[in-house]
Amino acid sequence: MATILITGANRGIGLSMARLAAQRGDTVIATARVPQQAQALAELAEDTGRVIIRALDVTDEASVAAFAEATTEAVDLLVLNAGVLNAYGGLDDPAHTAEAWREVLMTNVAGPFLVARAMLPHVDRSKGKKIAIVSSVMGSSERAPGNAYPYRTSKAAAVNLARNLAAELEPRGIAVGAYHPGWVRTDMGGGGADIAPEESAGGLLGRFDALSMATTGVFEDYRGQEIPF
Ligand SMILES: NC(=O)c1ccc[n+]([C@@H]2O[C@H](COP(=O)([O-])OP(=O)(O)OC[C@H]3O[C@@H](n4cnc5c(N)ncnc54)[C@H](OP(=O)(O)O)[C@@H]3O)[C@@H](O)[C@H]2O)c1
Repeated sequence: MATILITGANRGIGLSMARLAAQRGDTVIATARVPQQAQALAELAEDTGRVIIRALDVTDEASVAAFAEATTEAVDLLVLNAGVLNAYGGLDDPAHTAEAWREVLMTNVAGPFLVARAMLPHVDRSKGKKIAIVSSVMGSSERAPGNAYPYRTSKAAAVNLARNLAAELEPRGIAVGAYHPGWVRTDMGGGGADIAPEESAGGLLGRFDALSMATTGVFEDYRGQEIPF
């Protein structure tokens, strides 16, 4: 059984991945910005005995450093899932403020970078040696309709980050992939989205299982369908 670390695991797709992974027997290190408020995670930890809850804000270097320090486990699979979407419109959308850009780029791009770098020693000494970045089809430059600028560009950058990490970490035998979870009924995806978090999470865990040095650098969805960059 593997040890899986999931960022942003207190709700949404992250919580569903934590639940499915714990139920299949993996040990899950589940992060939340405010563990004291992570009720669903606490119940999952109580029910399964396989979930370790730790504090992590991916945009805060001190938080990332303290988290890496607190981690003693070898991490077979690092899932960089935490993300934000705070503005949807075109150029006229007043929500595209400098602060909105800062929040999205720090959370969706710098966050995965900072956590991957800090956790690398723990991934390096594991058997699994895998890193998965949860991006989005909205980051595909081939499918760019002209809206949600901060989010779309951040998710394009997240794929680019995965591709660069895949290249740099190849000699160390660490496989890295970028993934689209589908359009999922979470706080971010909304109630009208296509699929339930459990379906997305199950598909994603299957794709992470399939990730290998032969497929490192992949960008695909939760069903294994390749996505154009
Ligand atoms: N839902 C979709 O349809 C969809 C589609 C494509 C891609 N995605 C991607 O899938 C991932 C998960 O999305 P979701 O739908 O599950 O979103 P969600 O329900 O909004 O949950 C987002 C998670 O990220 C955490 N987070 C946000 N900022 C953070 C920070 N600075 N540090 C640590 N954790 C932080 C949140 O923690 P708090 O509770 O503390 O805010 C929460 O646990 C995201 O990367 C998203 O972009 C989602």
